[in-house]
Order: sequence, then structure tokens, then C-alpha cells
Amino acid sequence: MTALTLSTAGAATLRADALVVGVAKGAKEPVLAPGAEAVDKAFDGKLATVLATLGAVGAEGELTKLPAPSGLKVPVVIAVGLGPVPDKEDAYDAEALRRAAGTAARALSGFKKAGFALPAGSVEDAAAVAEGALLGAYAFTAYQGGENKLAPKDAKAKDNGPKLPLAEITLVGAKPRDKAYKAAVERALALAEEINRARDLINTPPNDLYPESFAAVATAAGKEHGIKVQVLDEKALVKGGFGGILGVGQGSANGPRLVKLAYTHPKAEKTLALVGKGITYDSGGISLKPAGHNETMKCDMSGAAAVFAAVVTAARLGLKVNVTGWLALAENMPSGTATRPGDVLRMYSGKTVEVLNTDAEGRLVLGDALTRASEEKPDAIVDVATLTGAMVLALGNRTFGIMANDDAFRTSIHEIAEEVGEASWPMPLPADLRKGMDSPTADIANMGERMGGGLVAGLFLKEFVGEGIAWAHLDIAGPAFHEGAPYGYTPKGGTGSAVRTLVRLAERTADGDLG
Ligand code: BES
Ligand code: MN
Ligand code: ZN
Repeated sequence: MTALTLSTAGAATLRADALVVGVAKGAKEPVLAPGAEAVDKAFDGKLATVLATLGAVGAEGELTKLPAPSGLKVPVVIAVGLGPVPDKEDAYDAEALRRAAGTAARALSGFKKAGFALPAGSVEDAAAVAEGALLGAYAFTAYQGGENKLAPKDAKAKDNGPKLPLAEITLVGAKPRDKAYKAAVERALALAEEINRARDLINTPPNDLYPESFAAVATAAGKEHGIKVQVLDEKALVKGGFGGILGVGQGSANGPRLVKLAYTHPKAEKTLALVGKGITYDSGGISLKPAGHNETMKCDMSGAAAVFAAVVTAARLGLKVNVTGWLALAENMPSGTATRPGDVLRMYSGKTVEVLNTDAEGRLVLGDALTRASEEKPDAIVDVATLTGAMVLALGNRTFGIMANDDAFRTSIHEIAEEVGEASWPMPLPADLRKGMDSPTADIANMGERMGGGLVAGLFLKEFVGEGIAWAHLDIAGPAFHEGAPYGYTPKGGTGSAVRTLVRLAERTADGDLG
């Protein structure tokens, strides 16, 4: 894990492998962002001109490496683009800072220590830089650079190994003795570490991450952070009547699990329940996905990973709210014991479901978990799931959809996501789409009209939420797993989508800011 410190030295005296400064896009030429003053001085006040000469304009995602002048104690200066100069000179957008810090941190992989002399004049700025840098300093290397029997005997394993993420980030210009700065940095560290751990879980191949092993990770984390963890194994699921989770998991040699994580605070006034879709691999089951659609389906537990990360972060921050996480874990495989299209399952709620398509499995495991979560009468429930390809068609690869049984709650979540820099959009649950799921055999079918498929899935879930409980559903099928080139603080692979939104929701609930 990357270390994070607040530098007591100024940019001119800091010893490190590199210094990062910000440059914004001005009307005519690039403009240095606050924090770059001492570095600019070492360049005789000509840093902006030097950057312009090299073709830099200060655009988002832009990165320029310069040899450092003799006045500095670092060999390299890195200027990252922040996008347009803000209207108010030093009011840089938190997300622009996060992305710039992330871009720099990615470029610094393989380096030991870097000073970030980006804007840090306010606690919010410092927190954004810390978050972006820590999220950018991520690489999933667990399966690379091990022993190679064909390598010459004297070759060290690390010689053919991957570049490791930047080891130490130090924020220049943040006040190291100021309580508010220290708290903000502690928060950024806890949040980023748990997001990076969620990314690791998502990226771990499904032959190693299956329901039982995921549950073991949760149990260990629970011990470490004082979270009560209960794991229902197959026997317990049968006893409890969890027909949805069992129906999805029965085709796999790796049996399903339902994990409950309970973080409680003695002075909590509210309880938030978080439910995550945890399909450790989605082959589609008997309704098998075609080639080209299953290579990334290890990501189908991203919702459960997000819920897990959010509960652990809430515990690490000691938030004054109870947060219960439910991980609905199963592997969706085709086999002689798998659920068939046409089978009818009896869900935990008692409702029967005709499974018309075994690839619509997420709603089956979530239905059971939502009912179980509802039994404890939380003040609100949020589920997170890579639920439908239709949501990706609607909103693209970077935006998650929000559906809810309560308009105000949906709006709150949308605002919270915006505040923490996660792209999302409110979606409706049109009642007319319900009839498409009418079944001649059971109470409901697990599929309906193809048009509006994301909303159909949301309507299905709604039926498994207890009366009178505010509920929201986040369909993160688009942003959960990033297949393109890395950008900002977003790596290839698992992204940790929705964790920041869930953590802020928990903080807001703790502060009594939500109904
Ligand atoms: N896990 C998939 C949804 C998905 C698609 C996630 C792309 C991430 C990227 C889900 O289980 C699924 O297969 N949904 C089906 C539902 C359909 C059969 C009603 C879909 O969206 O095609
Ligand atoms: Mn599926
Ligand atoms: Zn799925």
C-alpha cells in the first residue's frame, strides 16, 4: 500500500524522486496552479513559459516531465494538466484535482517518493489531491513476475516483474499540524485503501475468487476492523429458504454464500443497509453467454466488493451510524445441476419466480438479500449491482444508473455521487413495464420486455424490498470495470465504482443530513 504523509518541508527543500505541480489552461497560455510557486521560482519564474515552449496547454490528462533545476532537491518535475482555469482563481474543482493527481501518480509508477505541490490551500483541495494520488497509485500485479522456470538461474524474480505503484506520496503545502488537514488525509487514506482493495477483489481471477474465498476475505477484514461477520453457507441457505441465491449457485462446484457484515456505533441513530451483487463469475448459466461477452465477467461481483469496501471504510472512520452490508455471493455456471430456463424458484420472501433466462441471475440473488435486509427494518437500503447490459447501452461506460422507490432518496444519492466525483444519472421505474414479467406459472418471471431492460430489472428488485423502507438501486454495469486506456485515477480493470458514493451516504446519514 502506498504511504501518505503531509510534508513539513516546502517544495524547494523536499527530497524526493519527483515533484508534481499543476498547470491550468488559460485564455492564451498555460497558467501555474497554486502550490507551484517555489518550483516556479527555481525555474527563475519561467516555468509556465518553459511548459508552453514544450507544447503544454494545461489540458486535462496532459503530463509534461522536466529535468529539475539545481535549486530543487528532486531530479524531476512533473506538470499535470488541470483543464480550464476556474472562474475564481484558486477554486479548483475537486474532481479536476483528483484526476490530475491520479494522472501524475500513474506516471510515477516504479518511483519511490513524490511530492505533490498541487493546490492544498483548503482542506478540501488537499483531500482531493490525496484521494486522486492514492487511487492513481494502483496496480494489480499479484499474478505477474513470479518464478519463471525458463529464465536464467541468476535472474532475480523482480527483473521480469511488473512496475510497482508509487510507494510514498507526500502533500506539499498542506498543514501537517492542523487537525482538519490530518483528519481529511486520514479519511482519504482509509477510503482509497478500501477502494483499491475492492479493485483487487474485482481483478482477482474467478478461479481464485469464488463465494467461499470472498466470504473468507470478509471474515478476516471483519476481525481486523471490529465488524461482526456472519456467513451463511449452502446448508444454512437451504435451511433459511434462500431459493434465489441457491438457484443461481446450484450449477457451480463452488457453492453460494450470503455474508452479513454489521458495523455498529453505540451512539448511532440510524441504520443503513447496503446490498451487493456478488456473482464471482457470470457465464450466463444454461442461457450461456456467447464468446466475447464472458471474458470480463469476473467483474460481476463489483457491487459486493463496493458494499464490502464501504462497510470497512465506515468502520475505519468510526462513523456514528450503523451500516450493515449484505454480500449475495454465487457463481453462475452451466452444468447438470444448474437451474434450467423454465424452472421455478421459491425466493426467501416466499414469492415464486419462473426463470426464463438464467443469465438474469443478479436479480435472483439480490431479491433474496433485499428481503433479508428488509427484515431488520433499516432506515434505508441501497443495492449496488452490475445488473444489466441495457444500463450500459443507456448511460455508457462511465455513468451508473440510480433507481429508487422514493424520489427524494434517489435525488439525494444523485447529489451525493456528484459531490464525490462519481458520474450517475436518475432513472425511472415505469409501472407499465411490470406486466412484461407476468408469468403463467409463477408469481413473476425473471425477465420482461427487452426495451428498458435496466428498468425492468429495477422493477423486479423493488418487489423484494420491505414495505415503507426507502430503497435505491445503483446499476454500475458500465463503470464497474474499465476496459479502455487508464485515465485520471481510473486504472484498467476494476474501478471501485460506487464506494465513494456509499461512504458519503453513510457520513451524511451519521450527520443526520438525510431524512
Ligand atoms: N452481469 C450481467 C450484466 C452485465 C453486462 C454486467 C455487461 C457488466 C457488463 C447480467 O447478469 C446479465 O447477464 N444481464 C442480462 C439480463 C437479460 C438476460 C435480461 C443482460 O443485461 O443482457
Ligand atoms: Mn447474467
Ligand atoms: Zn450478472
